[in-house]
Amino acid sequence: VRTLATPVRSNHYAKLTPADVGEFCKMLSGPSSVLTTIQPEGADPSFRTVDPSELDTFNHDWMNKYHGKSQLVLKPKTTEEVSKIMRYCNEKNLAVVPQGGNTGLVGGGVPVFDEVIVTLAGLNKIRSFDEVAGTLVCDAGCVLEALDNHVAEKGYMMPLDLGAKGSCHIGGNVATNAGGLRYLRYGSLHGNVLGLEVVLPDGRILENLSTLRKDNTGFDLKQLFIGSEGTIGLITGVSIITPRRSSAMNVAVFALETYEDVQKVFTQVKTHCGEILSAFEFFDQESFDVVQKHATAHVRDPFEARHPFYVLIETSGSNKDHDDEKLQVLLEDLMESGLISDGVLAQDETQVQALWSLRESVPEAAGKMGKVFKYDLSMPVSKMYDLVRDMRKRFEDHSIYSRDFDQGKPVGAVCGYGHIGDGNLHINIVANSYDPEVEKVIEPFIYEWTSNVKGSISAEHGLGLMKAQKIGYSKDPTSIEFMKKIKDLFDPKKILNPYKYIQV
Ligand code: FAD
Ligand code: MLT
Ligand code: ZN
Repeated sequence: VRTLATPVRSNHYAKLTPADVGEFCKMLSGPSSVLTTIQPEGADPSFRTVDPSELDTFNHDWMNKYHGKSQLVLKPKTTEEVSKIMRYCNEKNLAVVPQGGNTGLVGGGVPVFDEVIVTLAGLNKIRSFDEVAGTLVCDAGCVLEALDNHVAEKGYMMPLDLGAKGSCHIGGNVATNAGGLRYLRYGSLHGNVLGLEVVLPDGRILENLSTLRKDNTGFDLKQLFIGSEGTIGLITGVSIITPRRSSAMNVAVFALETYEDVQKVFTQVKTHCGEILSAFEFFDQESFDVVQKHATAHVRDPFEARHPFYVLIETSGSNKDHDDEKLQVLLEDLMESGLISDGVLAQDETQVQALWSLRESVPEAAGKMGKVFKYDLSMPVSKMYDLVRDMRKRFEDHSIYSRDFDQGKPVGAVCGYGHIGDGNLHINIVANSYDPEVEKVIEPFIYEWTSNVKGSISAEHGLGLMKAQKIGYSKDPTSIEFMKKIKDLFDPKKILNPYKYIQV
């Protein structure tokens, strides 16, 4: 069986013993906090080990691309328990992988070998919410959607939204510096996170759960943990600013014939509705086809014919009449100028969801169709679609790509979609299997192409295991040297999330 390249296990890390597992049982409250296939030394007679298959959901990632072989999952319920775990692992040289909702797309949240998995799912309490300032303080294991529902009751919303909202944790979002669908309006977590509580690799607790918006006292250490992908500390608490929830929302999807028109529409939309614009997303016909054929839930096609490109725009404001009027003028302008061939405007909340699902279903539908090679790139908007076209051409040239999904032959799709308003392109290449021969057609071509246009090889998904060796395409040697020094400073024994992130 041919598999994608993986690193070799380092002997630097100790192997788990029954005595170690016994110690973890003592330090964590309740038997359900330790899931293991190893009989712990000195454990309560009622303790039950589990079948290895019960650890599968922790060992395998969302795409079923990365598979670890951990024999131990720890489920602490408090920051102090996380601290005890880390102190012990640091002393014993046991490698640890922090895990949130396990929805990451670069293999960062699952073990590579036998690392101890520490899931933050048990830390799931809301600590406080300030209804005047809109500041939320919560445990890192809170699910993003649950937080959004909680603050919605008070008229607020989370400043980020992702297709994975029903499973991903706020701690995982911070650890990956997730972007998502509201980034255009509310910006990066580097701006929205006000404070963090972090357990360092040696067990010390960095208490920085500030709710202040402004604080210029020294280095802003929390920024180092935002996007650090579990390599320098475990985030246990998050303080975050939540914006007021808009009372008026509109969603429209337009069909277009050329990529040039997509760019012109973006400019027009900003001209007419810039101050109320909250999302500008795009997806191509191939993405649309994949959703129509493979999405688990039926996603209704609101158009009479297929078109090469689609854009979704969302506006959010406080005055429905004002926003409707603006959208009306925009629509007339776009129709008159011939930039759009067709368009639909949601009339109620159900239609809002239905239009969003045309875009949000792409990753899930691609995963249903086959094995997905995912790329997440930043680059000038004008260049983006050239890369999608070049990639399709490469697949045709190598005869492993066929647009005909139904023939039972080598199936494939090259889907181009993403957060065009943020200059973020996603390319999902669907194949029959995670075949290294397919990967060779894509890489390093895709990274070189991106680097040549001064783009980033990871716009929002992170580096994880997938791109641990690739950072050099987007960062200069001096930056990488200082990143490694930061890793050494926080985690001199390199026990946190080994083999990932920066391994050049
Ligand atoms: P995990 O997958 O569990 O972990 C991700 C990384 O963070 C790992 O390296 C892990 O070790 C680390 N980590 C997790 N929790 C902690 C913690 N508490 N402390 C320290 N380290 C931790 N991403 C985007 O940016 N934008 C999108 O629009 C987007 N949409 C998505 C849609 C779908 C359907 C899916 C499946 C994923 C999507 N993602 C998107 C990927 C994104 O990275 C994750 O969804 C999310 O941010 C990860 O959160 P998680 O809790 O699942 O983390
Ligand atoms: C998205 O924008 O849909 C996400 O980043 C997930 C993905 O691309 O798979
Ligand atoms: Zn995305």
